[in-house]
Amino acid sequence: MTDKPEKIAELEKYGAGAVVLKSIFEEEITMEYEHMLKDEAPGRYKDDYLDYFDYRIKEVNLENYLSLIINARKKVKIPVIASINCNTSHEWTYFAKRIEEAGADALELNIFILPSIIAQSADNVENTYLGIIQAVRNQVKIPIAVKMSYYFSNLAGMIAQLSRTNIAGLVLFNRSYSPDIDIERMEVTSTNVFSSPRDLSISLRWIAIMANRVKCDLAASTGVHDGSAVIKQLLAGATAVQLVSALYENGMEYLETMIRELSEWMTYKNYEKIDQFRGLLSQEKQVNPALFERIQFMKYFSDRDKNIVR
Ligand SMILES: Cc1cc2nc3c(=O)[nH]c(=O)nc-3n(C[C@H](O)[C@H](O)[C@H](O)COP(=O)(O)O)c2cc1C
Repeated sequence: MTDKPEKIAELEKYGAGAVVLKSIFEEEITMEYEHMLKDEAPGRYKDDYLDYFDYRIKEVNLENYLSLIINARKKVKIPVIASINCNTSHEWTYFAKRIEEAGADALELNIFILPSIIAQSADNVENTYLGIIQAVRNQVKIPIAVKMSYYFSNLAGMIAQLSRTNIAGLVLFNRSYSPDIDIERMEVTSTNVFSSPRDLSISLRWIAIMANRVKCDLAASTGVHDGSAVIKQLLAGATAVQLVSALYENGMEYLETMIRELSEWMTYKNYEKIDQFRGLLSQEKQVNPALFERIQFMKYFSDRDKNIVR
């Protein structure tokens, strides 16, 4: 949906406030960096070290990505946010500078580290995030958003710490490809490429808990499938709301429907501006802040038990 300037213009036409481009991957960038090193220091790499054709493909991808930014910037007025999928702070970070030079309005870093290595400490994962942000911060002046996962031992502490790294926004949260098992073919497969409306609650809880407790904007992501989900995230305190699956499932024009649902609700509730209701139901403003922290089903089961005829 974001690989051509024409499509981005269409998203703008239907009311998108900004567009985050599809990500370019750290691995693709690293390849180019190695290529540069090779040119600068001939002989340092053995000829057979790298597959030349693979190189060419990846270089073309990189150039295409920069052209996409340049051409999208010419075609639309809304902010064009580039995106890098990364999990180390190594050589690739110089590419952030090229993204800035190409005219991107901001850069989103999609950092997803699945904490699956038993020997890896929580500190190590946290420092990787901080290292990536610092390395990119040193390269560019444009605003940086960090799209993070919720796999942290102290999630609230980590969100607060990340928000103090001079970034402009945090996106709560990224959503990974989910594994499944095909019991007929006895194979590991993937499932649910698209989210469902039920996936909304994880980000809703954490937007509500962290709203007004961080030093940057909070963008809600995952499970936003209709206007009411947008309203919920704004009531929880989100500064921005991102969506993808809903547009794949319903077409880009569905943005207009969602925006209409938001406007109709605002008219019905007598709100003229989003800021009049943003964060009204954040944990900070709640009469009972425990509502966002309840994680056990105790109440559900005790209520249900009352109705059981013994
Ligand atoms: C087809 C498709 C392509 C995606 N490509 C990217 C990508 O390039 N970079 C990224 O950070 N997230 C990517 N995502 C993940 C989305 O940005 C988003 O985090 C996820 O889909 C949850 O949001 P949703 O519930 O609105 O779909 C992709 C999702 C889909 C469905």
